[in-house]
Amino acid sequence: MILVTGGAGFIGANFVLDWVAQSDEAVINLDALTYAGNRENLVSLAGDERHLFVQGEIGDSALVARLLAQHQPRAIINFAAESHVDRSIHGPEDFIQTNIVGTFRLLEAVRAYWNGLQGEDKPSFRFLHVSTDEVYGSLSKDEPAFSETNRYEPNSPYSASKAASDHLVRAYHHTYGLPVLTTNCSNNYGPYHFPEKLIPLMIVNALAGKSLPVYGDGRQIRDWLYVKDHCSAIRRVLEAGNAGEVYNVGGWNEKANIDIVHTVCALLDELRPREDAKKYCEQIAYVTDRPGHDRRYAIDASKIERELGWKPAETFDTGIRKTVQWYLENQSWVANVQSGAYREWVEKNYTGRVA
Ligand code: NAD
Ligand code: DAU
Repeated sequence: MILVTGGAGFIGANFVLDWVAQSDEAVINLDALTYAGNRENLVSLAGDERHLFVQGEIGDSALVARLLAQHQPRAIINFAAESHVDRSIHGPEDFIQTNIVGTFRLLEAVRAYWNGLQGEDKPSFRFLHVSTDEVYGSLSKDEPAFSETNRYEPNSPYSASKAASDHLVRAYHHTYGLPVLTTNCSNNYGPYHFPEKLIPLMIVNALAGKSLPVYGDGRQIRDWLYVKDHCSAIRRVLEAGNAGEVYNVGGWNEKANIDIVHTVCALLDELRPREDAKKYCEQIAYVTDRPGHDRRYAIDASKIERELGWKPAETFDTGIRKTVQWYLENQSWVANVQSGAYREWVEKNYTGRVA
């Protein structure tokens, strides 16, 4: 049995779906169901005994202690977080509460549980913390990609809160010996991505005839990884990573935002041409830049490849095509997420078990 936190969000839900597709080992999924958590993502698991959904906070120490005592997981994978940089700029409080205080409380509950494990269960236990490349700050055009030894220079309230959580995880290993693993990944994209983030927002706005807001000059660079490749990296680190180690995860796919937007527009021109025969890129609108906007992220993923033999399966071309196709085929998912009606829909249609 493993425990996943934040498994109703974008990456967590992809992880849980892939896990159940590949393993008979059960998953407890602890998720607070914030605006970003969506049980509709997990509807294909309804009635599946291997998935146990629990609505709750990682910072609820009593709940977490009860779940650990009851289910005795061999590993915990911590996806739960506030994840959107723009929201962290408008309102940092939730980021401090979940990403820092929540992770701290989770670590405390896990430490108590791990202390009580006997025999081989104790050294083989793992706490895998899912983090981000944003903790390393921003790169200039010619600097080498982030390696695991780069210093932490977080620039947004979001990245600062993730950096703090990474430091706590590290300290729990160093001080208490808790067998932790940390992954720092680049920008993900793929199915179930909430349409407040660049790629899904562009797809959804384009189809709705709305403008495509590009921040600043649009030349900021991100390093893109298809979400299923991030999930396979996490499974690999969980299986073979060394306790206390950090692994950077990325797809060697540096792209400027404006090029991403043009790629999405071109795919939509091909797969769902506008009725007026104009090009989707005509909807692009340059808007005021994000405050403190990081210019460039790039991940050096050579350690995970060298030590654990992990490599992404998708290129950007294959991954982005799959992603655009997924959004075209799942427009009711988008409508539900946007309207908030998915919560009612899930109440009526989802019959998953609650602990
Ligand atoms: P998301 O915002 O889509 O999902 C977060 C999930 O966590 C939601 O289901 C939400 O309900 C849940 N949650 C929030 N607060 C909680 C709490 N207090 N207790 C329990 N559950 C809570 O985020 P995502 O994009 O799937 O990111 C998942 C993790 O991966 C985060 O830790 C993020 O920092 C990290 N990450 C994301 C990316 C990316 O590109 N999206 C890249 C690298 C790392
Ligand atoms: O690098 C990993 C990080 O990637 C994760 O840790 C975060 O959780 C995740 O949200 C993501 O952060 P970004 O800020 O890079 O992602 P976002 O999709 O918000 O923006 C990507 C780039 O696109 C960024 O340079 C800002 C720009 N952008 C974004 C939006 C939403 C626009 O130009 N227009 C937009 O409307």
